[in-house]
Amino acid sequence: MNFLNTLNGKIASQPPIWIMRQAGRYLPEYRRLRNTELNFIDFCLNAEKASEVTCQPIKKFNLDAAIIFSDILLVLHMLDFKVSFIENEGPKLKKLNLGERITFNDWRKFKSDLAPVGEAIKLSRTKLNKNVNSRNIPIIGFSGSPWTLFTYLTEGQSSKDFSNARKFLWSNTNRSEEVFEILVQAITCFLEIQLDAGVNAIMLFDSWAGSIPARFRNKFIYGPTKKIVQYVRAKNASIPIICFPKSMGEGIVEFADIINPNCIAVDHLTDMEFVHRSIPKNIAVQGNIDPICLVHGGNILKREVDYLLNLISDRPYIFNLGHGILPATSQQNLTDIISYIREKNYGISNS
Ligand code: CP3
Repeated sequence: MNFLNTLNGKIASQPPIWIMRQAGRYLPEYRRLRNTELNFIDFCLNAEKASEVTCQPIKKFNLDAAIIFSDILLVLHMLDFKVSFIENEGPKLKKLNLGERITFNDWRKFKSDLAPVGEAIKLSRTKLNKNVNSRNIPIIGFSGSPWTLFTYLTEGQSSKDFSNARKFLWSNTNRSEEVFEILVQAITCFLEIQLDAGVNAIMLFDSWAGSIPARFRNKFIYGPTKKIVQYVRAKNASIPIICFPKSMGEGIVEFADIINPNCIAVDHLTDMEFVHRSIPKNIAVQGNIDPICLVHGGNILKREVDYLLNLISDRPYIFNLGHGILPATSQQNLTDIISYIREKNYGISNS
């Protein structure tokens, strides 16, 4: 409850805690189950296995929220841009070339292909409710944001400078807008499946928001993101929304103003003092701890946590990292920092 209360504006003396990529390779039980499927997409679409790994970190660390195990690239895979994951190389997919259109229009098939994600959510709910400690733990549903999906679509893989994506925007802005419309439709379908299956919050990952030319923010970040937020709120007004416009710099202020999410997730490259003084106090913030600092652990990590929690004591805050937990992270460091936060009393609680 603490997690949803925080998203709804309450300040708690101990912040709720969850970790991006909390079901991931730093957990041996994740790696064991992951090794039973060759293909990562098949693994995500196996509702039994996806629900099992969704629950693993909750059982182990008693976190305050579960995030459904899936991937943002499933949406592109189901739009017929087949994705494969090659170990140590990241994702590879068929790419959309300059001048090409997306011809996709079979939304019924799109939804039935992604139905296992809904099943995984329902199974996760059942599994979490079986255990007294995790009964009613909120489940976060998610999607990539249009711009971040557009980068994978036009690069065919991860990228350093996103030159294909940017070329696409500059050389044919109208064609790009058509592509974004399809991405918005695909994303809302993906979220619809998750909302219908009973997720309690939504997170939009715009991992590469910091790499779009600022001149295009209005057209390709704010506009399409706003449409998705409006869709979620029209469907279910009580579902809180977390946005992660990663490394957007000063743009995070305009983002918060235009999008007005319940919560903004802040990466570790962004100055939290700037965010805290620049965005309205009714918007919760999440994250900001450098994932490498959690790998390091010990007193240095505790000092960072104290700094952050003392800084943000007068606004709702959700403890998390600035990006996903790294495979090299020791589980003990995570256990230690969770107990440290839960034993302390930060600021004044109004709940
Ligand atoms: O957070 C969670 O525990 C839920 C599951 C989740 C995954 N991916 C599982 C995953 C979530 C929320 C994502 C989101 C995601 N996927 C993002 C946005 C967040 C971010 O990290 O910026 C992005 C950009 C992707 C695309 C993606 N998926 C990449 C670039 C990779 C390869 C990089 C890597 O870490 O290997 C993936 C694969 C992936 N998605 C893994 C996991 C646990 C690792 C693959 C494996 O276990 O074989």
